[in-house]
Amino acid sequence: MSSNKITVTRLREMKRDGRKISCLTCYDASFARLMEQAGIELLLVGDSLGMVVQGQSTTLPVSLDEMVYHARNVARACHNPLLIVDLPFMSYASPEQALRSAARLMQEGGAQMVKLEGGGPVLESVRRMTEQGIPVCAHLGLLPQSVHKLGGYRVQGRDDVAAARILKEAYELQEAGADLLVLECVPASLGAEVSATLEIPVIGIGAGSSCDGQVLVVYDMLGMNPNPASFVRDFLGGAGSIEGAFQAYVAAVRDGGFPTLEQAF
Ligand code: KIV
Repeated sequence: MSSNKITVTRLREMKRDGRKISCLTCYDASFARLMEQAGIELLLVGDSLGMVVQGQSTTLPVSLDEMVYHARNVARACHNPLLIVDLPFMSYASPEQALRSAARLMQEGGAQMVKLEGGGPVLESVRRMTEQGIPVCAHLGLLPQSVHKLGGYRVQGRDDVAAARILKEAYELQEAGADLLVLECVPASLGAEVSATLEIPVIGIGAGSSCDGQVLVVYDMLGMNPNPASFVRDFLGGAGSIEGAFQAYVAAVRDGGFPTLEQAF
């Protein structure tokens, strides 16, 4: 393994040392190469590909085969960043199915960590995957795979009860063995509390500047979304090239220039 390889140990060290972690979604080899050159720590093959690559209105139609295909393409150009791949909707409805799906993402897709959405209902799956040596990234807050249950893409954890539930689930996921947590669309105060409470790094998206790292959907930060969420910043405009946009993003995450209060709830 190259000495520049990002590992779960390196991520914990970064959190301990207060160094911010940058992550972008990635769906192909060309973008993976440019992101790696920009020094990004994490590449996420997100099931957001269903919306931004396939043009679907939600992430629900994305299949495990499609995730394997995109992961394999990204993996060919991803050497130093840690490669995280989403388990798509209904590919982890039981711990057994989660194990089988994660095995495909790792063996066929080259994933080095798998991500799944939710708290209580996925704890046993997180435990079982951890027992088998599979690194797991949990995902709380806005859960895009539950969009119909949530009634839309809305900020989560706004009231005290909902915030306390997210904090409790975050802790339980860590105790079940999760190595990383993505926290999506929650008030910045809750992002700060979850990050301060957990030992594992918390990667925020619309969760404020106090998270241990940040993730954005790549097409959003390249200004390609006609209706971007308020937590998105267009990094291409000022940079003039895609490489420049990735470098500007990594630098802004590292020095705390992104996100600001403007991109927070
Ligand atoms: O699928 C995805 O792109 C994600 C990010 C929004 C974190 O899960």
